Amino acid sequence: MLHCLILQSPAHKPTTVGRTILGIESSCDETAVALYGNHGLLAHAMHSQVALHADYGGVVPELASRDHIRKLLPLLDQVRVAADCRRIDGIAYTRGPGLVGALLVGATVAAGLGMSLDVPVLGVHHMEGHLLSPLLERDPPAFPFVALLVSGGHTMLVEVRAVGDYHLLGQSLDDAVGEAFDKTAKILGLGYPGGPALARLAQQGVRERYDFPRPMLRRPGLDFSFSGLKTAVMLAVKAGGAADHADIAASFEQAVVETLAGKCRRALRATGCKRLVVAGGVGANQHLRTMLGEQCRRDGVALHFPRHEFCTDNAAMIALVGWLRAGDMRPGITAVDARARWPLTELTPPPDPILEQA
Ligand code: KG4
Ligand code: ZN
Repeated sequence: MLHCLILQSPAHKPTTVGRTILGIESSCDETAVALYGNHGLLAHAMHSQVALHADYGGVVPELASRDHIRKLLPLLDQVRVAADCRRIDGIAYTRGPGLVGALLVGATVAAGLGMSLDVPVLGVHHMEGHLLSPLLERDPPAFPFVALLVSGGHTMLVEVRAVGDYHLLGQSLDDAVGEAFDKTAKILGLGYPGGPALARLAQQGVRERYDFPRPMLRRPGLDFSFSGLKTAVMLAVKAGGAADHADIAASFEQAVVETLAGKCRRALRATGCKRLVVAGGVGANQHLRTMLGEQCRRDGVALHFPRHEFCTDNAAMIALVGWLRAGDMRPGITAVDARARWPLTELTPPPDPILEQA
């Protein structure tokens, strides 16, 4: 499945010198390329490997790496033509965290292109991409804000004071929320990827039928834990029949969404922030979007989601981070550099912040 879009509406109107940044994403099972310039996103393209991994019930790292090799350069051509782009000023690629073989494909292409075009290259943190992805939208949130990052590998609450100024408020102590969706979907016999399939089934179920635990909601603090919820689902599946699966899916989704919403409210109160950003693959979940929307309206909090296609992995967010961090780019760096694990809190602000606090 190949998508290519050209966007005309700029999200930012910066005053700095020209910088057109090529973004490359290859951290897991999506290959993506984008171009971001001073007038916003110029073009982006994405190839999903869902069909490739479906038979295996999950991502097979070796197959993922090989497919990134096949798809990256054709996507690059596609985006370059779509944006009618004749020059780039820098390259941003996902350096980590992710599958190391998959990351190395993007890192190698970025280093090779950087060397041949004689432009600087920057390795970008994938979660910083998710965190800042709402800035791709027409009404970007001003700093500071609280971000709920919910992806297949991470569940984090982060206070974002500026680009690179991230204070970790809480995180999952075991399974990430996307992982909990995927594992629960597997228990229910749904295909891969599990999250969207479970969300579809949940629409037909009764959310109040099962009183699954709201993990850590009654305890103070901003950490999460989702592995107990998975066990509760397993017991319900064993006790019931196939006819109960929609109710189990709906009750599971309700427990997760209530937990996430409760922690968000707590994080907003603790920081005094009046803006909430939700990003990462689970941010595409419609029930989460609706419930958080209602809660934020009641609480007088501005809620920002990226559009659906920028919730899941994409290169637009990587090109955006490269553009915001152009001051971090150093010419002549040609090392192929990837990090499977990389704590978000290691990041620091760029030397020339483009976006200021509200
Ligand atoms: O951010 P992402 O695309 O990749 C990572 O960086 O991990 O997130 C993927 C995760 C998967 O666990 C997937 O099942 C979940 O996001 N996901 C969803 C939905 N769409 C994707 N979970 C619940 N509801 C959805 N609609
Ligand atoms: Zn991601």
